[in-house]
Amino acid sequence: MKKMLIVSAAAALLVSGSAFADLALAKKSGCLACHSIEKKIVGPAWKDVAARYKGDAGAKAALVAKVKKGGKGNWTKVTHGAPMPPYSPRVSDANIEKLVDFVLSL
Ligand code: HEC
Repeated sequence: MKKMLIVSAAAALLVSGSAFADLALAKKSGCLACHSIEKKIVGPAWKDVAARYKGDAGAKAALVAKVKKGGKGNWTKVTHGAPMPPYSPRVSDANIEKLVDFVLSL
């Protein structure tokens, strides 16, 4: 147990302060039930999302709208058609923007 605490503290130090806060927000908002950074869970891995929209100037607005209203169809091959649930107004607009910025930064 003590060893585990040391390992997770070390891992926390490796992640920059801001990314750590963003991950905590993602956890608090319930996103991590279906997403992880590296691996598909129910939704696509957030690294794959970042790679797909790299260099796409319209991506941020589109993804903010998607997280607010939910939807499906962009990742059917990965998710077999599972939908992304709507998060507005459960999560504030400001926090949804923060989460999308974080995902796109990965
Ligand atoms: C119940 C499971 C579930 C939860 C909880 C969930 N997602 Fe998703 N998410 C999905 C699925 C499934 C998709 C793929 C949708 C598609 O095919 O268009 C997705 C897609 C996405 C995408 C990519 C959208 C696109 O159109 O390319 C982003 C960004 C995203 N989720 C962010 C979030 C954030 C932020 C949260 C928390 C506020 C969250 N998700 C919570 C299941 C979930």
